[in-house]
Amino acid sequence: MRNKIVAGNWKMNKTFQEAEDLLNDIAEGLDDIESTGVEVILCVPFPYLELAGDIAEDSRFMVGAQNIHDCDAGAYTGEVSAPMLKSLKIDITIIGHSERRKYFGESNGFLKSKVDTALRNELCPIFCCGELLPEREAGKHFEVVKTQLEESLFHLSPKELQQVIIAYEPVWAIGTGVNATPEQAQEMHAAIRSWVREKYGDELANEINILYGGSCNAKNAGVLFAQPDVDGGLIGGASLKSEEFLSIIKTAVATRG
Ligand code: PGA
Repeated sequence: MRNKIVAGNWKMNKTFQEAEDLLNDIAEGLDDIESTGVEVILCVPFPYLELAGDIAEDSRFMVGAQNIHDCDAGAYTGEVSAPMLKSLKIDITIIGHSERRKYFGESNGFLKSKVDTALRNELCPIFCCGELLPEREAGKHFEVVKTQLEESLFHLSPKELQQVIIAYEPVWAIGTGVNATPEQAQEMHAAIRSWVREKYGDELANEINILYGGSCNAKNAGVLFAQPDVDGGLIGGASLKSEEFLSIIKTAVATRG
């Protein structure tokens, strides 16, 4: 049975003090939740990784980054590498978020090399995929997501893909307050799992975690997480308030298998 995963993506939010308060509030709240079978990950901005790691030592959440460079080191002013993250004991990073694709021009091919860099450095990628609104309106959403997976992930060996978490995030749902319906999420998640099955077989398809992201909040997490192929969520805005985020974690506990 797959664990449920609730991952927070703070994006570029919070000052140091606000980050510390939020991390402490989440850690305190987690003490009161019997969260077996649910993994909690907080993907915080780079400057707060060490702080988050320290607080996580006495709590039950894991810490992730939101991005890596595709090279291990070099003359790339302002960038952060996978080995740097590992040296801070970080084991997880988001890769291919739609905001990286949109504002930083990250293509499927480029993301393939980031996925390889992450895995080479023993970082677990939370790989984001998802279609734009016009692509859905044109009925091309399955094709778009399949291509994203084929071009960035499906070159991996089974052993490598096993380390990857997939997050389906329809771009039209991110930060808009319009979440995918549970039916829309389920049909895409089932399709993603079926493509993994075709290429990698039953065992890996049944094992791989597929998270939903896009305006997921305390109100809609219950129906989304209850879908058989939705293994939890990648939460943006709703991860910035401890009460709401903790309430989503409680929902994951209630809907775990
Ligand atoms: P949102 O963002 O929950 O604010 O829609 C999700 C994400 O971008 O990962």
